[in-house]
Amino acid sequence: MQRFSIIVGDITQSDAEAIVNAANTTLLGGSGVDGAIHAAAGPELLAECRALNGCKTGQAKLTRGYRLKAKYVLHTPGPIWQGGSHGEAALLASCYRSCLSLAAEHGIRTVDFPSISTGVYGYPLSQAATVALKAIMDFLAEHDLPRQVRMVCHTEAAAQVYRQVWNLWYAGSKADRMV
Ligand code: APR
Repeated sequence: MQRFSIIVGDITQSDAEAIVNAANTTLLGGSGVDGAIHAAAGPELLAECRALNGCKTGQAKLTRGYRLKAKYVLHTPGPIWQGGSHGEAALLASCYRSCLSLAAEHGIRTVDFPSISTGVYGYPLSQAATVALKAIMDFLAEHDLPRQVRMVCHTEAAAQVYRQVWNLWYAGSKADRMV
């Protein structure tokens, strides 16, 4: 069974057990997917986040999902793109690993990710996709949980980039190719 997939959608509508929020280090909300998740989850999410005292870039913190379908939200601040020679790739990989580790620790079986850092934070999509897919696939190869991970792209264009990267690196056979 394929444990990873790429879909197009609005992550606030996800029915995964946990969704990931592309947060900032204050964890006090923002625009983009952060703003959308807080708007959909309701004010209790911000109240819980306030008590977390922020989160370092590349790390992750867990909260409940409140009015979201998802039971949990994994908040992770991605790196701000500064040209690629300031440790951005390592920090971005750490976002994915930290969220997956936290999910596994809590016995969470399904996790949906947005494309972290590729909006406001300016990380070039194809480079971010390469880092994201490697971090996810390496983690899944070493761990039984989560059972299912999805990359939820907000647009078909973004999904195409992720599929291209997938097909380049992970499609062992024609049957594995994503179109
Ligand atoms: N569902 C899925 N993906 C979404 C959604 C959504 N509802 N809304 C936006 N996206 C996508 C964007 O298209 C982009 O590909 O999420 C990706 C991440 O974009 P941002 O939300 O801008 O996040 P990021 O680039 O990590 O910047 C984080 O922005 O919102 C603030 O508080 C946040 O300061 C932090 C910064």
